[in-house]
Amino acid sequence: MTPDHGPLLYEGKAKRVFSSDQANMVFVEFKNDTTAFNSLKRAELENKGRLNCQISACLFELLEKEGVPTHYQALAAENWMMVELVEVIPLEVVLRNVAAGSLCKQTPIAEGTVLSPALFDLYFKDDNLGDPLLTEDRLERMGLVTVEQRRHIEKLARRVNTVLTSFLERLDLTLVDFKLELGFNQAGALVVADEISPDTCRLWDMRITDPQDRILDKDRFRKDLGGVVEAYGEIHKRVQEACSKPRNYN
Ligand code: TMP
Ligand code: ASP
Repeated sequence: MTPDHGPLLYEGKAKRVFSSDQANMVFVEFKNDTTAFNSLKRAELENKGRLNCQISACLFELLEKEGVPTHYQALAAENWMMVELVEVIPLEVVLRNVAAGSLCKQTPIAEGTVLSPALFDLYFKDDNLGDPLLTEDRLERMGLVTVEQRRHIEKLARRVNTVLTSFLERLDLTLVDFKLELGFNQAGALVVADEISPDTCRLWDMRITDPQDRILDKDRFRKDLGGVVEAYGEIHKRVQEACSKPRNYN
């Protein structure tokens, strides 16, 4: 089912954005397309769009309930949501609770090392430049955000981390790390945008000790481990069950 949308405004690697007839609202369609390593690796994974859309919707609802503003408004179909139109800051905001991925490739920090407090990394979102890691000085020179906005971004991202880590722990899931995109809405408020899903988080199953079998996120695709959609389905199942229950996660 497709909602009654207007023209295509933007197409990214995993989502399409369409206009709507409501002021300041747009439709986002989650695609099955999956990419890694700046699109060097691609696949279409049946059902992925639906699973990511519903997982994201649930996590955005959770954040809203916990006082974290997001662009999310409502689900519009099984792989569509309505969101507030925001001006996305071209930054990938990454929070790391456990060392994995690029951190272990670029430093001697061993995979699995617990990072407390969580490591806050900012990357410049630019495919042509390969999304480079930014220093505070570089960020300031680039003038993308003010020093005060950078502080606000870090505070918001750490709050998201606290809420999500606590929620996912109760589902026996370790939130290893995740990437957020933030933007300013029409009222000028900083809100969480994009998606929060196994495409943008590393999630390990606490019920499994094997370092490969426990992976329930896009690393299954990046590392050719197979069972990608099944892993996303497991996240979907646990998140959906918890989503419908009353909760208080601080
Ligand atoms: P990294 O270890 O490769 O830097 O990734 C950190 C987190 O960010 C991980 O949860 C995956 C997520 N991520 C994205 O959502 N998009 C990307 O393009 C990349 C490179 C990572
Ligand atoms: N965003 C990456 C890409 O451009 C995918 C990833 O590694 O998450 O393909």
